[in-house]
Formats: sequence, C-alpha cells, structure tokens
Amino acid sequence: MIYLDNAATSFPKPVRVINAVYNTARCFGANPGRGGHRLSVRAGEYVFDCREKLAEHFGCESERVAFTNNCTAALNTAIKGVLKQGDHVVISSLEHNSVLRPVHKLAEQGVITYSVAKVNPLDDNETLKSFAFNVRENTRAMIVTHVSNVFGTVLPIDKLSAFCKARGILFILDGAQSAGSHVINIEKQGIGILCIPGHKGLLGPMGTGAVLFGNSVEIEELTQGGTGSHSLSENQPTVYPDRLESGTVNMPGIAGLCEGIKAVECFGGEKTVLQKESELIRVLKEDLSVITSVNAYTEMQGGKTTNVLAFNLADLHSEMVSSLLDKEGIAVRAGYHCSYLAHKNYGTSEKGCVRVSTGIFNSKKDIKNLVFSLNKIAKSKKLC
Ligand code: ALA
Repeated sequence: MIYLDNAATSFPKPVRVINAVYNTARCFGANPGRGGHRLSVRAGEYVFDCREKLAEHFGCESERVAFTNNCTAALNTAIKGVLKQGDHVVISSLEHNSVLRPVHKLAEQGVITYSVAKVNPLDDNETLKSFAFNVRENTRAMIVTHVSNVFGTVLPIDKLSAFCKARGILFILDGAQSAGSHVINIEKQGIGILCIPGHKGLLGPMGTGAVLFGNSVEIEELTQGGTGSHSLSENQPTVYPDRLESGTVNMPGIAGLCEGIKAVECFGGEKTVLQKESELIRVLKEDLSVITSVNAYTEMQGGKTTNVLAFNLADLHSEMVSSLLDKEGIAVRAGYHCSYLAHKNYGTSEKGCVRVSTGIFNSKKDIKNLVFSLNKIAKSKKLC
C-alpha cells in the first residue's frame, strides 16, 4: 500500500517510536507519578523527558506543557478553559471542526459570540484585514489553524499574532497540520496557546497530543480528579501541568512521542522535513497539470510551501475516486475531512475533494504511482 494520508496520521512510524511504546509497556508499565516504587518513578521519567522535549522544541516552560489524548482535546482545553461569559472570538474560514464545534457550542449556550474571518490564500494582507475587520471590543481570542488540513493553505500566523499582541488578544494556534513540519516557537512567535497532536508530523503514536502555553496564560481545567499531587485536598491543584492533567496519562504513547520528536530532529528538523514533503507535492502538481480532467486546488496554496494537495477528478464524487485509488493500492482521504467551514467557504461542499498528504517516508515513486493510477482511472471513466 502506498500511504499518502499523513495529514490524518503519519504512517509508518519510525522504529524508535514503536520500540519506545513496546519497551515501556513491557518493562515500565506502571502508573507515572502515582507511586514511590521504582517502576512508577521510571515511568514518570519518560513523561518528564517528553514534557521537557516538547517545551524545548516549541519554546515554553515545561510545566506549561499538558498532555492530552489528541489535538481536539487540546483545543477543547484551550477554548473552554479560557473563554468566559461575554467573550467574542474570531476564527478563520479554514478551521477544522475541532475548533468550530466547541466554539459553536459555547455560542449556542449563550456564553460567547464568534465571527469567521475569510482567509485569502493569495494575499496575506487581505487575510489580516479580514481578521481585523471582525475584531470587536470584547474580542478575547483569535483561534487560527496554522495549515489547512484540506487544502494545505498556510496562514500568516506571525502577522496575526503580532496583531493580537498589539491589541491584548490571546492568540491560539491549532498546530494539527504543522507541528513537526513547520518551525513553531511559542515565545518567539507570540503564541498564547499552541495545540498539537502527537501522532501526525511529530511521528508519535495515536492517542497523544498536548496543549502548550505561555507564562501569562491561565487555563481552567475541564476535568477534575486525581493528579498524583495534593491528594489530601478536595480542590483541584492550581499548579500546572497538574491542573490540566487529571487521571492517568498515556505513558507508552508519550514515550513514543518523545522518540517521534527526536526522529524529526534526526531527519534534519522541520525545515528539512517540509522541504522533502513539499517537493513531492510540487512534483504532483506538475504531473497533475497534464491530466485535463483533474482540478487541483493549487490556488488555495498561494505559492506557499506545503505538504498537502487537494483535487477532484472531473465531476466524480471524491469518495468514489479515493475508493478507486484504494483498489490501486493507494491510501488518500476524500470527502469533507471534518472541515465544514473549509468546504463551505471554498466551494467543495458538494462532492468534497481528494486529499493527498505526504510524509517523511514517501518518495517520488509513490507520486508517480499515484499519477499513473489517476490516469488509468480517468481513462477507464472516459475522461480523457
Ligand atoms: N484531522 C485529520 C484529517 O484531516 C484527521 O484527516
């Protein structure tokens, strides 16, 4: 199988990640931070090491890294843990449902109001203007995806965070599609809260993610419970990360995530990873341009470097194309990608689109095979 669905989750995982999950589960499978015996202490060290690694990698203090099960959980923590009655937020027109749905729910409950700023992929200043236009007196936060999971559009996050900083607005970044392939630094880039999955670009196992935040940000916990600390108090601890980490964490997953981050570093870091992954997208764009029945959404990338490309084949439904590709041994994701806003705002609600997302283990041969299969499908459907 040729795997080109890395935006859903990266696959395969580096051997060091698999080994870390296996070895911790097998040898140190005790509960981290929940006992003084050596197995628990050892398990706690794995969690500590990964926390330190994430903090160093993304530019924040290690106690301001809280583990979650995925990026959706991290975003819910950020959104519901920060927004208060009467707040207004601005989100982008490319947000995933993991941002839209919690925000929309709070709005339906009468807690907040929200506006959607239109992203112009071809003009960052127009995007900035749209965000600025939607800001109100009570705007508490902007919540912005770094890279669209559907079209690969890269948003101008430095401009947006600078705008937020100047107006005292909290900048919340959804790093679902960028962590591990784009350099992100909380302190240097003025990011208030960064939400990340562990299992995509960071090459860790599924069931891992984190919310990382700056020193001036306070996040209220969504769940209360055992934290392994302050056990004789009926109150949830207010210290981070304990405040945000009730219940047992996914220690083998976290140990794997730590190795995933190290693997990204060994591959040369985010810049090198993106260079490799985006070169494959460049080749794909070039090759698709000669299949007349393919409509590739290249304009959505505004000339920026990215590792995702979406397209449709004539007027075939995208799900049909992906199932024909599956028969050819190629894995891509079609349909709506859990992104109501992106499809609604950019005209692909009817038949969705086919999304190709490259990863560090893909090669030009994979792209050539994909193009060969698409040509074959187009011919069989008499589209060329
Ligand atoms: N959000 C993931 C995707 O885009 C699962 O496929």
